[in-house]
Amino acid sequence: MNTNLTRSEAMSLRGVQREFRTDDGSVVLYQGDCNEIMPQLEDGSVDHVIADPPYDQRTHERARSLKNGGSDIAIDFSHLSNMQHVGEFLRISRRWVIAFCALEQLGEYKVAAGDAAWIRGGLWDRPDGTPQISGDRPGQGGEGIAIMHAPRTKKRWNAGGKRGTWRCGVDRSAVDHPTCKPLKLMCELVADFTEFGDLVADFYMGSGTTGVACIQNGRRFFGIEKEPRYFDVAVSRIREAIARTSLLEAAPKITQRSFTEAT
Ligand SMILES: C[S@@+](CC[C@H](N)C(=O)[O-])C[C@H]1O[C@@H](n2cnc3c(N)ncnc32)[C@H](O)[C@@H]1O
Repeated sequence: MNTNLTRSEAMSLRGVQREFRTDDGSVVLYQGDCNEIMPQLEDGSVDHVIADPPYDQRTHERARSLKNGGSDIAIDFSHLSNMQHVGEFLRISRRWVIAFCALEQLGEYKVAAGDAAWIRGGLWDRPDGTPQISGDRPGQGGEGIAIMHAPRTKKRWNAGGKRGTWRCGVDRSAVDHPTCKPLKLMCELVADFTEFGDLVADFYMGSGTTGVACIQNGRRFFGIEKEPRYFDVAVSRIREAIARTSLLEAAPKITQRSFTEAT
């Protein structure tokens, strides 16, 4: 992405309904359909894509998200109907492309990425996922993480020989989105795959969890969300994350002397 796009240039991209941007351009959010917006973005214009697209039809029909003290809320946005976003992610990203999916979809991601870009299937291990109520088969233990890389650049990450498994409990905090990812999980992925100052994109940002993780870890963020109500949630969470980060930056630094004086 050209982070120097002016407000009017950004709004002239087809499909952008609304936008939020920080004064320094380190965070840009568009409300719109990423399938319309992505083809207008230049090749290699972000450092990484870490995205959480809708899952397949089967998952959407069965899944319920536990919120509000345990009541079930059905996923209220459409399932994926094709894999065209994978080619766009790999074209727009200079380096890593990380996409959440149902475990059963990992093969589809592998085919869509092709041998040159496919790295491997990773796992979000959910130790406290919803149990199998019927009791006649194993419950779902986790979700897939399709790990891909732009073919034209050298691979590197920050986690050495770590296995591609991220263990993290489901976050049932009161974020107004039915499939909000845990912030802790997104912070780990951002820390493992990206560097300080990198530009990370999530073209299906929902309530903006990837963006909050980026802000907390000193990465720039570009997000797109189609649904106006989720775009509003993302803007509000991201504004709050920026305010907290600036407060922390402005706070007096703790020194040995501060401890001595406090006692
Ligand atoms: C799995 S959710 C993402 C949840 C997010 N990771 C979070 O923590 O809140 C997928 C999101 O993609 C949005 N979406 C679906 N199709 C889209 C499209 N074509 N363009 C942009 N956003 C889309 C949905 O409205 C939904 O909020």
